[in-house]
Amino acid sequence: MSRIYLAPMEGVVDFVIRDLYGLIGGYDQMTTEFVRVTDKLLPPKVYHRYCPELNTGGKTQTGIPVYVQLLGGDPICLAENAALATELGAPGIDLNFGCPAKTVNRHDGGAKLLQNPHRLFDIISAVKKAAPGQVVTAKVRLGFEDKSLSNEIAQAVDQAQAHHLIIHARTKVEGYKPPAHWEYIAKMKEHCPNTKVIANGDIWTVEDYKLCRNIAGCEDVALGRGAFANPYLAKAIKSEIPDSDSDSQWKELETRWLPQFIHKSLEFKNEHYAVTRTKQWTKFLGRNFIPSGNLFESIKRNRSLEEVKSHITF
Ligand SMILES: Cc1cc2nc3c(=O)[nH]c(=O)nc-3n(C[C@H](O)[C@H](O)[C@H](O)COP(=O)(O)O)c2cc1C
Repeated sequence: MSRIYLAPMEGVVDFVIRDLYGLIGGYDQMTTEFVRVTDKLLPPKVYHRYCPELNTGGKTQTGIPVYVQLLGGDPICLAENAALATELGAPGIDLNFGCPAKTVNRHDGGAKLLQNPHRLFDIISAVKKAAPGQVVTAKVRLGFEDKSLSNEIAQAVDQAQAHHLIIHARTKVEGYKPPAHWEYIAKMKEHCPNTKVIANGDIWTVEDYKLCRNIAGCEDVALGRGAFANPYLAKAIKSEIPDSDSDSQWKELETRWLPQFIHKSLEFKNEHYAVTRTKQWTKFLGRNFIPSGNLFESIKRNRSLEEVKSHITF
């Protein structure tokens, strides 16, 4: 049986979505949004903010482990922070070597590090040493400018003995532009024989999953935008639900999950957050569920939660 990871997405996959997707089902593992580490040990409250699941053993209420993702370029500082997150109860530390954001890259973090694969080795090794016994994983792209270092990247992660490697099959320069180059994942796998590889990028449907599995040679995948646009995608991939039951899925989304999402977002932060996030999610869901696109059009100028709620069938 394949394992399905909910890919980390800053400003998208927060505590609320992780909690909700745990309830909806199909996901085996999740990760926080990246915690940026520059030159100091962050206070515990930062880790609790990014990962409220630390209060419940590092797991969602349905028992799915949530790894804390760190982003930075300084092995010592990352190691200290990883040790703290471990002490606070994180069940795993994921290291971000894929972020394409200019500010992040300018400050020596994310995909920038892919230009020097030995830096991945140094960082993973330092983190493993500082948090003995902890599960340490890495998330990479195929390269920064081009794919010429992709095999070396895989090799560096393998030699540092990361627990697993998620490969987003694009370079930094390719951003999020389709297509994802799954064939490179298959090549990189040959260069990391001891590390489990998880394929990521552009899996929007069960058909995409099958194609990716065949090309990349990975049973296990991480779903990002595809999952946000279709919460049932993981279950569909695992064949736990009929593939084309969009009407009843939307009914369940509108009457059950959307109200819970609004309520949880309000509880987690505030009304503004709940309104903004509801617009964001309904717009994304509109890719798969036409009524959600219509709902987004009705609420996109709403400011209060009262207005938003008046458009939803509770
Ligand atoms: C809005 C957004 C935020 C993201 N934030 C993160 C992040 O915090 N950490 C990370 O490793 N990747 C992040 N990613 C990358 C995703 O995890 C994933 O690798 C990428 O979206 C490709 O997968 P997909 O096609 O399934 O979305 C982000 C992507 C998007 C679109």
